[in-house]
This record gives sequence, C-alpha cells and structure tokens, in this order.
Amino acid sequence: MPDRVSYGLLKGKKGIVFGPFDESSIGWHIALYAHQEGAQIAISNIAAALRFGKPAELAKVCGDAPFIACDASIQDDVDNAIKEAKEKLGSLDFIVHSIGMSPNIRKQKPYEDLNYDWYVKTLEVSGISLHRVISSALKQDALNDGASIVALSYIAAQRNYWTYSDMGDAKALLESIVRSYGPRLSKRGIRVNTVSQSPTYTKAGSGITDFDKMYEFSDLTAPLGNATAEECAEYVMTLLSDLTRKVTMQNLFHDGGYSSMGTTLPIIRLVHEALKNEELVKKAGFDEFLPPDRNLNMGSDSQ
Ligand SMILES: NC(=O)c1ccc[n+]([C@@H]2O[C@H](COP(=O)([O-])OP(=O)(O)OC[C@H]3O[C@@H](n4cnc5c(N)ncnc54)[C@H](O)[C@@H]3O)[C@@H](O)[C@H]2O)c1
Repeated sequence: MPDRVSYGLLKGKKGIVFGPFDESSIGWHIALYAHQEGAQIAISNIAAALRFGKPAELAKVCGDAPFIACDASIQDDVDNAIKEAKEKLGSLDFIVHSIGMSPNIRKQKPYEDLNYDWYVKTLEVSGISLHRVISSALKQDALNDGASIVALSYIAAQRNYWTYSDMGDAKALLESIVRSYGPRLSKRGIRVNTVSQSPTYTKAGSGITDFDKMYEFSDLTAPLGNATAEECAEYVMTLLSDLTRKVTMQNLFHDGGYSSMGTTLPIIRLVHEALKNEELVKKAGFDEFLPPDRNLNMGSDSQ
C-alpha cells in the first residue's frame, strides 16, 4: 500500500485512544493516523488485549506511545487511566472511544431471551463507559479547552438490525450520552460526537451472527460502498482536528451513503426473482419473520 499522505492535522495535540486490539480494529487505524498526523497519543485497552491482541506493537509504531490497561466499565480503572494519561502526556486535546462488546451476542443469546447480567455488561462496556471516561476527564481537569471526543456507533441505534441484538440498545445509549453531554461541554468549546461506521471486519464486528451477509447487503446498498476501518480513521482525523470546531452532538454517518438509501433496484429485482423460488425462500427463512396472514404469493409474476 502506498504511504498515506499526512496533513499535520493534529500537530501538537495530545490524546488517548481506547480500543485498539489488532490491525483489524477501527481504533488501531485511528491511533496510527493520529500519530501520523502529528499527535502524541496513549493507547488503552483491557489488560488481556496485551496477551491476545497487538496493542504493544501498535504502541511501538506510534512513537512508543504509553499503553494504559483499563477496563472501561470499572470506575477505578477509568480514573487511573485518565490520571496516567495526564501524567504521561499532559492535558488531553482528544479522546477516542472505540470500545464495544456484548456477552449476549458472543454467546448467541437471542434478544427475546437475554441474560440480564450480560445485558447490563453490554450497556456498561459499550455505552456507559463513554460517560465514565468523560466524567473522569472533567473531574481530573484532564481536558483542554476546544478538545474533541469521538465515539464509534452503528446504525442499529436508529433502525432494527435483528442480529445486532442488545448492541443496538447500547449504541442508542451511547448516542444519547453524546447529546446529553454536548451542551455541558460547550462552554469550554469541547465537542463530542459519534461516528456511525459501515459494517467492518473486526473482532467485535465478525462476532455478530450473519455479519458477512449484513456486510454484503450494506456494501451493495451504499452508493459509495462500505467504508473501511482506514477510511473511518481518516474521517475521525477531521473530527479531532481544529477543522471541525463547531461540530458537536452529532451522530455522523460514515457509511458510503447507506443510511440515506431506501434500497436499490438490483436488490429489489433480486428479491423479486428469489421469491419465485420456494427452495430459496425456505433457505432464507422468510417464513420465520412473517406474521401468519402474510402470504408470499410465490411463483406469481403479477403486480
Ligand atoms: N466492526 C463494525 O462493523 C463496527 C461498525 C460500527 C461501529 N463499530 C464500533 O467500533 C468500535 C470498535 O470496534 P471494532 O469493530 O474496531 O472491534 P474491535 O474488537 O477491534 O474493538 C473493540 C475493542 O473493545 C475492547 N473492549 C472490550 N471490552 C472492553 C472493556 N471492558 N474495557 C475496555 N475495552 C474493552 C476490546 O478489547 C477491543 O479492543 C466499537 O464501538 C464498535 O461497536 C464497529
């Protein structure tokens, strides 16, 4: 791959990126690009990520960035992480929250039969942790005026995506926390936004049932196709930079236009053709998703 062009967008800035695990992680590319754009960064993840992932490798190529172990669902961990980041870097100009995890999805519990302890864990790790991080940074006076906070979201916060299960609830909470904090941060010119990213092959993403099919569908629907983790990182650079000083409390879709599409003619035609094939209809499990009085009118080509 040719070297990417850097613009010095984050020259002189300091920040912490929560969530890089390995090269597939969205947070990995955000950390790397932030370093390349001139920022001094710290990288954070749960301690186990050091054993099973590669954040130490990333830290090395990001100017020997400090790695700060933190379970973002535990207040003491978050407080210590912010304290350590401030000690090592000074006050922060940006925070990136690229954290998500659902034990119910991991263990394939259907939404109708959630394990509630795990449900709370999903909300804690994937939603409330953003509140903890911001709150801790404010209490410890660890954010500079004009700082930027970005968290990663998914369109299941607004629309139903069956297999996204309780993560849809966590993303709705995450986006709501952004709106609730926005005005409270504005007096100091601090911005807070979510970026709603296309399906992306990462450890968290690929754990979702039928992820490959969701990926394909959104890639076919989005006029510009799915956005990659690298492209997401590039977009996030603009949000961390001074170029977006008046952007706050937004959920910004970075999805190749997917969120504004209804569907496409080829997909409509494909479904139309497929519905005439009884075997395909059964294989796709249409009947499981339809009320009993809905007939598919299979085989008919009339309007
Ligand atoms: N992959 C996708 O399709 C997709 C699409 C839209 C949004 N997102 C969001 O992007 C963000 C990053 O996810 P990703 O897809 O890069 O996957 P990823 O698995 O690479 O990153 C998720 C990270 O969360 C970390 N994490 C889990 N529990 C934690 C905890 N208790 N404390 C701290 N960190 C914890 C994991 O160790 C991991 O590094 C998530 O918020 C995810 O929901 C992903």
